[in-house]
Amino acid sequence: MERIVEIEKVKFESEYENSLRPTSWDEYIGQDKIKKNLQVFIEAAKKRDESLDHVLFFGPPGLGKTTLANIIALQMSANIKMTAAPMIEKSGDLAAILTNLSSGDILFIDEIHRLSPAIEEVLYPAMEDFRLDIIIGSGPAAQTIKIDLPRFTLIGATTRAGMISAPLRDRFGMHFRLQFYTTDELSQIVQRAAIKLNITCKKDAANEIAKRSRGTPRIALRLLKRIRDFAEVNNENFISLETAKYGLNELGINEFGFDEMDIRFLQILLSAKSRPIGLSTIAAALSEDEGTIEDVIEPFLIANGYIERTARGRVATPLCYDLFKLSSVNSGLFKDMQ
Ligand SMILES: Nc1ncnc2c1ncn2[C@@H]1O[C@H](COP(=O)(O)OP(=O)(O)OP(=O)(O)O)[C@@H](O)[C@H]1O
Ligand SMILES: [Mg+2]
Repeated sequence: MERIVEIEKVKFESEYENSLRPTSWDEYIGQDKIKKNLQVFIEAAKKRDESLDHVLFFGPPGLGKTTLANIIALQMSANIKMTAAPMIEKSGDLAAILTNLSSGDILFIDEIHRLSPAIEEVLYPAMEDFRLDIIIGSGPAAQTIKIDLPRFTLIGATTRAGMISAPLRDRFGMHFRLQFYTTDELSQIVQRAAIKLNITCKKDAANEIAKRSRGTPRIALRLLKRIRDFAEVNNENFISLETAKYGLNELGINEFGFDEMDIRFLQILLSAKSRPIGLSTIAAALSEDEGTIEDVIEPFLIANGYIERTARGRVATPLCYDLFKLSSVNSGLFKDMQ
C-alpha cells in the first residue's frame, strides 16, 4: 500500500516536473558553455544531414540532464526513446530496444553507470559501428550473427562520473559536466515557473527560494510549489518575501540553504574537530546509504567549499567552521551541538 502511495507521489511529482520542463534553449537557463557547444554540434550535424554523435551528461540529480536530452531531440527533430539502465536486465532487452530504433532516433539511457558489463559489451559495437553482434549457442558451436542498426544517437546520463567504465565513456563523442546553478539563474527559473503556474512570485521572494535551493532547479521548483501552498492557505494571491521566508523555515531549510540532512551531516564533521571521518561511519550515523551521501548530499557541500574529501575521510573546511561560529551567534543553526 505504502509503495503504491509512493509510486503515485513520484508520478505526480514527475508530471508536475514535466509541465515545467523547458522545451527550448531560451527557456533553459544557465549551463551556458554546454548550451553553446551543443548548439554548434547540433547545427553542424544538421548541415551534414547526419545524426548527432553520442552524448554523455554527468552531474548531481536535478540539474537538468533529462531536460537537455529532450531539448536535443526537439532541436534535431528526432524521436527520443527513454529508458534507464536498471530496466535493461538482459542483453536481449537491449537488442530489442536497438532493433526498434529508426534512423536518426535518440536513445536516452539514464543512470548509465548501472549497465552490467555483459550489456555494455552489446552496446560497444552498436555505438561504434551501428552493428549488433548476437551470439547464438555456446562453446565451439557458438555463432555470431551481425545485424546492421540504423544510425542513432545515444544520450547517456549519470550522477556518478567515477563509476562509468572507461571503455563506455570513451565511446561517447561528447562529455558534458553540469554545474550547480547560481542564485541568479535559479531565481530566473523560479520566476518563469511561477508564470507557468499562474502565480505571481515577487522578485525578492524568488531570490530567497533560489538562495536556499542547493544550486538545483528541481529543488527550487519543489520549494516554489510548497511556498505557493503556504501563500494560498494564507489567502495571499502572490508570494511575498515574508511568506517565502516563513515557508522555507517551516520546511526546515535554513538561511544558508542547508536542509535537515545537510545540517546533520555537517554536525557530524564539526563535532570531529578536524579529524577526518570515513564515509561508512557517516552513513551509519545518518542511517543513509553511502551512494546517496556521495551523489546527493556531498557534491553541493564540496562545490561550495564547506567540506573536503580526503584519502582518510571527510573534513569540514575553515569556511564551514566560520559559518558555524557565525550562525551559532545569529540563529543557532547548529545549536544542538553546543
Ligand atoms: N536549466 C534549466 N532551466 C530551467 N529549468 C530547469 C533547468 N534544468 C532543470 N530544470 C528543471 O528542473 C527539473 C529537473 O531537471 P531534470 O529532470 O532534467 O534533472 P536531471 O539532471 O535529469 O536529474 P536526475 O539525475 O535526477 O535524473 C526539470 O523538470 C526542469 O523543469
Ligand atoms: Mg533525469
